[in-house]
Amino acid sequence: HGLAHEITGRHSKTMNVSMSDAALSARYDFAVSVVQQAGAVAMRHFRRSDGLGIIEKGPQDLVTAADHAIDALIRNAIQSRFPDDGILTEESGGDISAQVWVVDPIDGTGNFARGIAGFAISIAFSLNGDTRIGVVFDPVAGELFVARRGHGAFCNGERMRVSTTATMGRAAVEAGYSRRTSSRDYLALMARLLDGGCECVQFGSAARGLAQVAAGRIDGYVEAHLFAWDVLAGLLLVEEAGGYADPFPLEGDGQKGLPVRACTRGLARQLQEAMNGASDPLDKMS
Ligand code: IPD
Repeated sequence: HGLAHEITGRHSKTMNVSMSDAALSARYDFAVSVVQQAGAVAMRHFRRSDGLGIIEKGPQDLVTAADHAIDALIRNAIQSRFPDDGILTEESGGDISAQVWVVDPIDGTGNFARGIAGFAISIAFSLNGDTRIGVVFDPVAGELFVARRGHGAFCNGERMRVSTTATMGRAAVEAGYSRRTSSRDYLALMARLLDGGCECVQFGSAARGLAQVAAGRIDGYVEAHLFAWDVLAGLLLVEEAGGYADPFPLEGDGQKGLPVRACTRGLARQLQEAMNGASDPLDKMS
């Protein structure tokens, strides 16, 4: 332990760095502070009357001036405070190292760009491939969701617990979608959830959706393909609120997307079946 072992160089691939509790606490305090600064910047842009500076990265894939401003704010803050930590963000990429920050400056950019409340800033800190800190801030609702591995999950200081829902017939599940996967697979997943009795929602921010699972407001979140920056913080929130979350290993350049399932423990198997889908309900319809 101790600071001597803490620093291994920016792009170190070694995944056996040890870090003191004090060093982790310092990063947690920093994350809580910087995510709120980022939220203030998001709100200044969101409330502007002269447009949001929207750029199309691809079909239905938007980025705004706020994404870039927040990306720069968080990146600069990390670099000046923890110069030896790695950084991976949605907007400017990065690399995976033993101690790395994984950041989505605005998750739910589609909502944000349309002036719809339903976006969040997501910041995770991963040590040796394990997410140790996760913070998600929804600045419109004024809700700050935080977790440290082993220390529980909290919303504005109140302890969070996932719901007790254990059957699809009582569950509300968010099923996220992007054009990175096929509409047919999404419709088949939806059909299985609906046939199982779920109430299905789609609010358009995975980070915020996962926070809602942790808070016990909805019972699960599923999506066929998401990136680390969208979900690492939210997955830790769900685990620390007593829920189940699929592992999301950080690998290579961090650009690899994976399926995501996070829910109450009682729903984990049923949602897995809905995602795997031995039989495609749409076959019966055609
Ligand atoms: C998107 C949101 C959305 C999810 C998409 C993501 P972005 O992230 O999390 O809810 O369904 O797959 O790409 O682009 O708004 O950061």
